[in-house]
Amino acid sequence: MMDRAALRLILLGVFLISASLGVKKKQNVDIYSFYINSTVTSRYATTVITSRVANTLNESQEIQFEVKIPKNAFISKFRMTIEGKTYDGVVKEKEEAQQQYNQAVSRGQSAGLVKSVGRTLEDFKTSVTVAAFSKVTFELTYEELLKRRLGKYELLINAQPMQPVADFKMDVHIQEKPGISFLEVKGDLSTGDLANAIKTTRADKDAWVTFYPTRDQQTKCKSCGENGLNGDMLVTYDVNRQNPNGEIMVSKGYFVHYFAPSNVPRISKNVVFIIDQSGSMSGQKIKQTRLALLRILSDLDEDDHFGLITFDSEVNLWKRELLKATEENLKNAKSFVKEIRDRGATDINAAVLAGVDMIKRHPREGTASILILLTDGDPTTGETNIEKIMANVKEAIGTKFPLYCLGFGYDVNFDFLIKMSLENSGVARRIYEDSDADLQLQGFYEEVAVPLLTDIQLKYPGGSNLTKTSFSLYFNGSEIVVSGQITDNSVESFTTEVIAVSKGSNVTYQDNTMTKDTSDVPPENEDFMQRLWAHLTVKQLLDRQVLLKGQEKEDEKKESLKLSLKYQFVTPLTSMVVTKPQEGDVEVANKPKEGERGGESTADYYDSDLSHYPVQHSLQAAKIIAVDDFDLYDHPLPTYMYDHPLPTYAFPTMHTTTPPAVQVHSNRFLLPVVGQSKPLCFDVPVPHKLRLLQDSASEFSMNGESLSEQNGFHQIAIHYKTNHHLIISTKSISYHNGQDNVEILWGQELTQHNTDGVSLVVLENEMNVTMGNIGVVIISHKKDGVMFLWPAIWEYPKDVNLTGVLGKSDISYVKTNGSQTPTLKMKDKEVKTYLETVSDYRLHSTPTRECWLVPFQAVMEAEISDFTVTQL
Ligand SMILES: *[C@@H]1O[C@H](CO)[C@@H](O)[C@H](O)[C@H]1NC(C)=O
Ligand SMILES: *[C@@H]1O[C@H](CO)[C@@H](O)[C@H](O)[C@H]1NC(C)=O
Ligand SMILES: *[C@@H]1O[C@H](CO)[C@@H](O)[C@H](O)[C@H]1NC(C)=O
Ligand SMILES: *[C@@H]1O[C@H](CO)[C@@H](O)[C@H](O)[C@H]1NC(C)=O
Ligand SMILES: *[C@@H]1O[C@H](CO)[C@@H](O)[C@H](O)[C@H]1NC(C)=O
Ligand SMILES: *[C@@H]1O[C@H](CO)[C@@H](O)[C@H](O)[C@H]1NC(C)=O
Ligand SMILES: *[C@@H]1O[C@H](CO)[C@@H](O)[C@H](O)[C@H]1NC(C)=O
Ligand SMILES: *[C@@H]1O[C@H](CO)[C@@H](O)[C@H](O)[C@H]1NC(C)=O
Repeated sequence: MMDRAALRLILLGVFLISASLGVKKKQNVDIYSFYINSTVTSRYATTVITSRVANTLNESQEIQFEVKIPKNAFISKFRMTIEGKTYDGVVKEKEEAQQQYNQAVSRGQSAGLVKSVGRTLEDFKTSVTVAAFSKVTFELTYEELLKRRLGKYELLINAQPMQPVADFKMDVHIQEKPGISFLEVKGDLSTGDLANAIKTTRADKDAWVTFYPTRDQQTKCKSCGENGLNGDMLVTYDVNRQNPNGEIMVSKGYFVHYFAPSNVPRISKNVVFIIDQSGSMSGQKIKQTRLALLRILSDLDEDDHFGLITFDSEVNLWKRELLKATEENLKNAKSFVKEIRDRGATDINAAVLAGVDMIKRHPREGTASILILLTDGDPTTGETNIEKIMANVKEAIGTKFPLYCLGFGYDVNFDFLIKMSLENSGVARRIYEDSDADLQLQGFYEEVAVPLLTDIQLKYPGGSNLTKTSFSLYFNGSEIVVSGQITDNSVESFTTEVIAVSKGSNVTYQDNTMTKDTSDVPPENEDFMQRLWAHLTVKQLLDRQVLLKGQEKEDEKKESLKLSLKYQFVTPLTSMVVTKPQEGDVEVANKPKEGERGGESTADYYDSDLSHYPVQHSLQAAKIIAVDDFDLYDHPLPTYMYDHPLPTYAFPTMHTTTPPAVQVHSNRFLLPVVGQSKPLCFDVPVPHKLRLLQDSASEFSMNGESLSEQNGFHQIAIHYKTNHHLIISTKSISYHNGQDNVEILWGQELTQHNTDGVSLVVLENEMNVTMGNIGVVIISHKKDGVMFLWPAIWEYPKDVNLTGVLGKSDISYVKTNGSQTPTLKMKDKEVKTYLETVSDYRLHSTPTRECWLVPFQAVMEAEISDFTVTQL
């Protein structure tokens, strides 16, 4: 076994070298068909991904299937078909699935098939051994209920088949009984040449979007390459709403009611912003918060009242009272906001109580009150006991108005925020630490900006097993959804009644629907409403469990488990067991968790995520790394261990599960090591957009974009503070700082530009950039007629915490003796290595140097995806 593994490594090692030399590898896996079929019936989306793959090699090999699905969805089916036999994944209770897996594999760890990637997607990955010249079909189904936000629904589909596919088809069919009011197709798959492959067909109640790119289009598009397509399609739409009572659908004993009136006057609101200004908010976060608050203040309506509270270890009220949003008051508030500075500890308890008090002291008839807490950390001063804080806040608010909690970044105790907001009829949202954090904050505010109704109660005489029927607020652009069963199926009509308060007066919406009217539901998915009901019920049960205790909690858990099993949903309580053709080879798919703290959250709360497009992000949940079984090549049954969610420190190109032809080219980075004659080097496959260097303290970041089949970077962007932006391409250099716009061409005589803390020096094909205390050199190279850029850092500033692909400067290693394969010891880990060569593009002369090639993960202690960005 050792030999087999070693041989494979050597073979792949040879491949690696040839790849760096740019020699094309013979394709030995053929994905000859890749279909994505998404059907949306009354907001309930069922998506089926089918990939058919042939092993074109004269020996058996591992073939991989990897797709990305929305976090909000539940996987409901997975099937592999090999040589006429089907292997279906079976959903079981989590513990039972784990046992089965453990029995199959004496080692205890679960080979997680699913992991969380970025803000809105999860990655599903598996592989199977396929005999010589045989074929395999993978089929994955997931289901989700599209949520209306800011007046629209969004269906997000990711496609990344890993190679150009002769028969690629994406079919989306949307059927909405009240008719579709608008439909738009966005996302990177709808740009450039690929847009020609998209066809949209609209009828009254149906819309079809098809995307059939030719093989040629899949290789020639801007973001495509030898790996084919890689991107998202985002279908955005809304439905007509002629009936103010909402839309009711009945099918096979189940109903769903969509309630979203818009013809209602807005209610003026009392909103208090409680802003964390503790030390941890320093830098970008506090700056973005200020920016967002300034925009939000500008958006307030004149009859709104507002309050501002900032807190660290002290609580500061801008004004003791809520003030009307007059021009004068807003002007003063903005001056206050501009002066918000980070300092001190975090007293959440005192701050929230001050906010509650502010609202309660000024009751205004016929208005809607909202508390918004923004924090990035744990309570560290004042009352720090989370249970006590929750009790205090709950008692103070007394169900009178909602508390929304926005958790900024990943240091925050998100479970605590979820509980506290749920207890006070609000939601918790995560604000991802990124360049668009201000927009995320503003986007959240926009969703709650226009309250139309308060105290909404929905009633369904003759309905049972109802999902949630009481809501504290209804905002314009959102939608209230209730589903349930109809107790007496023989009744002719079904009545809905909604009672709510609109600007202080009671309003009632009443409607009657004929139950026999099911003609709108096509027979092939007439079960959808039952599944929709189950989906919504399970989500709400899981939400509520956070708040329950004891027997009640057990009962609800049992109920949601029962439904998850009946409808074969992979939820936080269940797992899907995938048994493979090879004897005893078992994998388990779990719903990944994101907030790493605490016990039982949180994937489901991604429901309430502020995740607007663009979504694919590198900012992941803190992926805690604890590698205890590092030596994976000696594992007796190595195949599934490659899917281990923890970093395996394996060479990406050496995954036996990855068809080698897929990764044909990489950028190789050189990493000098103090006290060692040979540097380290590591590969990052292209194409990609990478975070190269970042210093949050001085708000400096440098990102680079690589194209496939090309060395280096074709564009590098450097950002400093909020106003300095430097975009370097192979053609020209452009710099903006809010006042100056500077354009510099490569290949010129000495050109210099110096302003506050920024120095740019360009001479021929070298550029020196200094921003604050960070200096980088960008070299423009030309190789085989192709221009590319390469960044170099000759001096690392002291006492600065740099991150990014080039951020490591303090790495060390010791060469260990003995074993056949050369091994390095790095940070107490044994790392297998190869003596390789690297072109040192940090110098014009591009000397070739010998280096120890190690996996990216071994150097960075993170995944490559942790360093990818969506925008330069
Ligand atoms: C998608 O599903 C529909 C209905 O089952 C079917 O008619 C259509 O051919 C499918 N499209 C693809 C690309 O599989
Ligand atoms: C596969 O083909 C190669 C060359 O065509 C040959 O050397 C090798 O023996 C074959 N392997 C098997 C298992 O038939
Ligand atoms: C609610 O949203 C709709 C559609 O966006 C808009 O036409 C309407 O004016 C809004 N209502 C209020 C009160 O802002
Ligand atoms: C639905 O409600 C009925 C009682 O009204 C109950 O007997 C039944 O078990 C419920 N079904 C589910 C799936 O919860
Ligand atoms: C609205 O209804 C509630 C409960 O039915 C009642 O207590 C309240 O007085 C009503 N308010 C108005 C303004 O009619
Ligand atoms: C850029 O910086 C490097 C290293 O500090 C220096 O050797 C080089 O002369 C500088 N180039 C220019 C054009 O100033
Ligand atoms: C860098 O990070 C470490 C640990 O996170 C911290 O102790 C140190 O103060 C930081 N240094 C600077 C200059 O920010
Ligand atoms: C490896 O062997 C050499 C010579 O035998 C010895 O000097 C060196 O200390 C050894 N290194 C390690 C890490 O054991």
